[in-house]
Amino acid sequence: MEHTKHLWRALGILVVVAVSGVVIRHFAIPDSFGEAGSYRYDALAEIASKPVVHGNDISCRECHADMAETKAAGKHAPVRCEVCHAPVTTHARDG
Ligand code: HEC
Ligand code: HEC
Repeated sequence: MEHTKHLWRALGILVVVAVSGVVIRHFAIPDSFGEAGSYRYDALAEIASKPVVHGNDISCRECHADMAETKAAGKHAPVRCEVCHAPVTTHARDG
C-alpha cells in the first residue's frame, strides 16, 4: 500500500478546506442574514431610516395640476415628472 500516503494528504487538504470554509462563513455572513429569507434582515430598518427623497407624480400634481394634465395628454405620459425635474424634496419643502 505505497499509495495510501497520497490519499491521506488529499484527505488532509479536504479537511483543511472544509474547516476554513466553515470558519470564513461564520465571520463573513452578517448576523441577521437568513432571519426572514436569504437577505440581511437588518438592511430593512437601515433603508427605512433613510430620508425620503423622491415622491411620485401624484405629489407633483397636488400643486401642478395643469402640468399633470399636459403630461398625461402628451407623448411623455409614461415618464415620471422626477425623471426630468429634481426630486420633490429638493424643491417643495413647505407649503
Ligand atoms: C407644495 C406644492 C408643490 C409641489 C408638491 C411641487 N411643486 Fe413645483 N413648484 C411649486 C411652486 C410654488 C413653484 C414656483 C412657481 C413659480 O415660481 O411660479 C414651483 C415651481 C416648479 C418648477 C419651476 C417652474 C419655473 O417656472 O421655473 C418646476 C419645474 C416644478 N415646480 C416641478 C415640480 C415637480 C416635478 C414636482 C414633483 C416632483 C413639484 N414641482 C412639486 C410648488 C410645488
Ligand atoms: C420629458 C421630460 C419632462 C417630464 C416627464 C415633465 N417635465 Fe416638466 N418640463 C420639462 C421641460 C423641458 C420644461 C421646460 C419647458 C419650457 O420651458 O417650455 C418643463 C417645464 C415644467 C414647469 C414650468 C412650466 C412653466 O410654465 O414655466 C413645471 C411646473 C413642470 N414642468 C412640472 C412638471 C410636472 C408636475 C411633471 C409631471 C406631471 C412634469 N413637469 C413632467 C420636462 C419635463
